[in-house]
Amino acid sequence: MNAYRRSSGRVDHTAKVVMAGDCAVGKSCLLYRFVHDEYILPPYIGTVAVDLKVKVVDVDGTRIRLQVWDTAGQERFRSLTRSYFRGALALILVYDITKAETLHIVREYISSVVSDVDENLILLLLGNKSDVSSRERIVSYKEGLNLASKHGIQFLEVSAKTGSNVMEAFNALAKAIKIKLEEGCDDQKVLAQAVQQSVLQKQKKSCCF
Ligand code: GTP
Repeated sequence: MNAYRRSSGRVDHTAKVVMAGDCAVGKSCLLYRFVHDEYILPPYIGTVAVDLKVKVVDVDGTRIRLQVWDTAGQERFRSLTRSYFRGALALILVYDITKAETLHIVREYISSVVSDVDENLILLLLGNKSDVSSRERIVSYKEGLNLASKHGIQFLEVSAKTGSNVMEAFNALAKAIKIKLEEGCDDQKVLAQAVQQSVLQKQKKSCCF
């Protein structure tokens, strides 16, 4: 066990997570929403190369320190991005539901991950900007889901702007990481259950109002 202690408290595991996807899909905003529970207001300033944010997540009493690498989406940084995949336990692929070409970039990442990287990497696909109107939406929920299902990846539509499904996505990932580290079992199955569980819990909560 990778026990770790800091002034902020006990940490049982540290896990490297990488976020990748085309530029301006909202990776930095999603990470900021996860860490600070706030939305970064425009203007848009693209990430240069890579940024790192850290958050400790409690999963059923186990404290997991997620080191999340937010990679730059611009093409000129893409080969550098792939070098960050090394040593990662999980990869979050993000596209923008208002731009079809961003789903294409995700497809490219998936094929390069399949050929280059450890096949045990936990993968999560996020379709960001679910807050937009149906008129602005270009990629349907079904298209995202089909791509994810084809590769056995878990999928959620999220919004960094409203916060919809963001905590659920990262918490489900942390749960899958915990079980992978402690039990070494099938991480995609675990992530599938965690994603479904967090969505179900959210539905139950919203039913109570
Ligand atoms: P790179 O650093 O270039 O790779 O971009 P990125 O993927 O990190 O995108 P970033 O988080 O900087 O957001 C890009 C733009 O999308 C900004 O103008 C954000 O305001 C906008 N944006 C991000 N998330 C959302 C969202 O959930 N909804 C809407 N409507 N806009 C968003």
